[in-house]
Amino acid sequence: MRKKVTVVGSGNVGATVAHRLADKQLADVVLIDILEGVPQGKGLDLFESGPIEGYDLKIRGTNDYEDTGNSDLVVMTAGFPRKPGMSRDDLLKANAEIVKGAVEQVVKYSPECILIVVTNPLDAMAQTAFRVSGFPRNRVIGMAGALDTARYRTFIAEALSVSVQNIQGFVLGGHGDLMVPVPRYTTVAGIPVSELMPKVQLDAIVQRTRNGGAEIVNLLKAGSAYYAPSAAVVEMIDAIFNDRKKILPCSAYLQGEYGIQGLFVGVPVKLGARGIEQIMEIRLTEEERAELERSASAVKELVDVIKM
Ligand code: NAI
Ligand code: 2OP
Repeated sequence: MRKKVTVVGSGNVGATVAHRLADKQLADVVLIDILEGVPQGKGLDLFESGPIEGYDLKIRGTNDYEDTGNSDLVVMTAGFPRKPGMSRDDLLKANAEIVKGAVEQVVKYSPECILIVVTNPLDAMAQTAFRVSGFPRNRVIGMAGALDTARYRTFIAEALSVSVQNIQGFVLGGHGDLMVPVPRYTTVAGIPVSELMPKVQLDAIVQRTRNGGAEIVNLLKAGSAYYAPSAAVVEMIDAIFNDRKKILPCSAYLQGEYGIQGLFVGVPVKLGARGIEQIMEIRLTEEERAELERSASAVKELVDVIKM
């Protein structure tokens, strides 16, 4: 039987996730929003693309959570995006209320679903969804590392003029200015990146990665990135629905891993049919560990504000 995905929030990220899911024929899709008509209109528009694109999926929009019932997976994008000059953290309280209300409804109609959280500030919103849902930690996953890593890989590939597919690496930590790209574990077709690029150039790429979300916000002026974010969400869904056991950096609830207790932070995880099937613990240098702790502390400050 075909899988069913609900996307909460039919804005830029949500609608583009629906579009990519349809193009990859991964699932039937329900788009839900508080706006009346917008999810219905976008859902119908995507549904009518089926004969041209060659998919037989059911895609619809709604304002009623009953229509989301028995979803296998729910993507939470409801919230406000960041505006120029606004930090991700400014969004904290407003989006926490939105995520709380939406997750309560999601859980009521799809108690067995896997939840992928996208709403910012990401790690604190994943923590909110985890607490409100009461789901086990393997079924609540924050999307950030897959996006941040895609940006990091793009910049390295561009600098070296090689295929992005040759670049392997990951970004640890919270989805904020203190995120931790890890050059020591970054390779280009198996070659350590430090062999191919001077440190000063790599440092600049690390900094550009940390600033990746703001770079797009400053260009767009209104709204934030959605093409790469939606691609990252669908990469995660593909790994889960196809039980790929794919290792991707995701925000996960840590219970002692990396010395972090009771907090969502980005780390490499194995994604398969059960969601997060393993948290990959890798050895870090003292400096890397200190950077991760600093990033986790920034997440903890937000979580403390919303008491999650
Ligand atoms: P958007 O403004 O285009 O869409 C948000 C949608 O949420 C709107 O259609 C709005 O009506 C809807 N919404 C608001 N309250 C709702 C509720 N209670 N129930 C259902 N829908 C509700 O924003 P965009 O660009 O799609 O971004 C969505 C969120 O994702 C933002 O918080 C943004 O910061 C975040 N984001 C996170 C990324 C990450 O890496 N984790 C990457 C990109 C965006
Ligand atoms: C991004 O990194 C806005 O968090 C979002 O693009």
